Amino acid sequence: MANSYEITDHTYDVLVVGAGGAGLRATLGMAASGLSTACITKVFPTRSHTVAAQGGMSASLGNMGDDDWRWHMYDTVKGSDWLGDQDAIEYMCREAVPAIVELEHYGVPFSRTDDGKIYQRPFGGMTTHYGEGIAQRTCAAADRTGHAILHTLYQQSLKHNAEFFIEYFALDLLMAEDGTCCGVMAIDLATGKLHRFRGHEVLLATGGYGRTYFSCTSAHTCTGDGNAMALRAGLPLQDMEFVQFHPTGIYGSGCLITEGSRGEGGYLTNANGERFMERYAPNAKDLASRDVVSRSMTMEINEGRGVGAEGDHIHLHLEHLGADVIAERLPGIAESARIFADIDVNKDPIPVLPTVHYNMGGVPTNYHGEVVNLVDGNPDHVVPGLMAIGEAACVSVHGANRLGSNSLLDLIVFGRAAAKRAAELVKADTPHRSLPDHVTDKVLDRFDGIRFAEGDTSTAEIRLDLQKTMQSHAAVFRTGESLTTGMEKVNGLNASFSNVSVADKSMIWNTDLIETLELSNLLPQAVATVASALNREESRGAHARDDFKDRDDEKWMKHSLANVSATGEVRMEYRPVHMTTMSDEVEVFPPKARVY
Ligand code: FUM
Repeated sequence: MANSYEITDHTYDVLVVGAGGAGLRATLGMAASGLSTACITKVFPTRSHTVAAQGGMSASLGNMGDDDWRWHMYDTVKGSDWLGDQDAIEYMCREAVPAIVELEHYGVPFSRTDDGKIYQRPFGGMTTHYGEGIAQRTCAAADRTGHAILHTLYQQSLKHNAEFFIEYFALDLLMAEDGTCCGVMAIDLATGKLHRFRGHEVLLATGGYGRTYFSCTSAHTCTGDGNAMALRAGLPLQDMEFVQFHPTGIYGSGCLITEGSRGEGGYLTNANGERFMERYAPNAKDLASRDVVSRSMTMEINEGRGVGAEGDHIHLHLEHLGADVIAERLPGIAESARIFADIDVNKDPIPVLPTVHYNMGGVPTNYHGEVVNLVDGNPDHVVPGLMAIGEAACVSVHGANRLGSNSLLDLIVFGRAAAKRAAELVKADTPHRSLPDHVTDKVLDRFDGIRFAEGDTSTAEIRLDLQKTMQSHAAVFRTGESLTTGMEKVNGLNASFSNVSVADKSMIWNTDLIETLELSNLLPQAVATVASALNREESRGAHARDDFKDRDDEKWMKHSLANVSATGEVRMEYRPVHMTTMSDEVEVFPPKARVY
């Protein structure tokens, strides 16, 4: 059906959807290389979720002790439980060093050592000499590193004349019949006007989908809109079963307490006052990788050693660090603990609980940021015109479990890489091919279906059911039984979306409509997550199956690809892990037992 909307057209060389750390780093790089660049973002750039990143960005600068990008690579491969692609991990760890020096030159106000170098703190799973010592590798701006990076990148992007479309919600990709991505449709939230953007490369930097869960450190805006657009474009999502629980979300609110607080010397105790991590990770203790710490905390609680009236959380101690260290290195944490837990960290421990924090899975890409798909037996087929970076993407550098502070790194390194790739692929001012009307109509028919929905279930009702289902059925520990029930419930909720109601049909600043569009994005990602988790009959990284307790490299050292149709049917495929390096300066790290 031909649509009757008035549409404003825009043409650019390249489009970036999302203005977090990844989107802004790519926007800056693309604009600086002379490409006309539009960045479309549903929130004001400096309100993107990267602003909440606290502890820092890893890079083997060696400012505070010996370091080497190969040690960083080894830690990341081990942290990934050998599901990460080793060529991509090599790329990320090598490029970390120039990428952070660039950030420093752009003006990021990093904390400093006494001799003026970038301050670096220890983080979980980060070691020297291939697991022998503790590395100080995480470059920090106090405990507000994401905030510092985001503001700097936004200013630099403006300086290079990137154009921002702020508070524009991306509806869908414009996909030509030959599978090329040609642009994106968006709605301007303030006016309700529709905009059609054309670009030779469309870069998804839309972040994760933490809000499929009830308790998460993610902002309410983290609804994985780009992932859902990729699914609707007929593309799969990779490794969606790997959902990271951060060990220290504030009990009750889910607000993040940075791992940097343990990097500065903080530690966890149970109801007996015992530093239980010594039992689970004798070497790294509280600085073991996140999956290990979150599982240990959950076991302590499940075995009756949780703290509090209901024995359902754990204590994080910072009291011994001293007021000066807290004021200089962890001021934001002190503030969050006071506001969200009514705790003075100088006097009392913070009540914490493993909380959903990060999605290792997302849109599969190579390390240039190009989206790849499994086509005719080729697992690395590049989808023309489409790129993805940051938490929306699965490069895969984090595999089954991401190390803390490798996320800001991923955003910056792959934002930079995607900009370089786009500059190679796109010649400025190349005219755009014409696009048949039905491409736009398809997007708007779906939009109308949601806008005019007249069911009898509210968006909030379906969303809450979804979040509670995910929280209890795709948790730190899973079983075939919990996942089978979870799958039935999530499928039911996905189907119930056809009965959603959008009370207000207006297009001007209609939060009910936008939240319903976001829910339509959350649902298929939840389906992909549970289906991928149910299929993977092993335990690896953040995917801990009580009924398949061991890692099974023979059968499962492969990436999951979940295709979810418009009606919710799932088709699973698999692609091999890249067990190759990109240079001869390092060798592949073969799988071994993962102990900390
Ligand atoms: O704990 C933190 O500061 C979070 C860092 C990260 O997720 O990389």
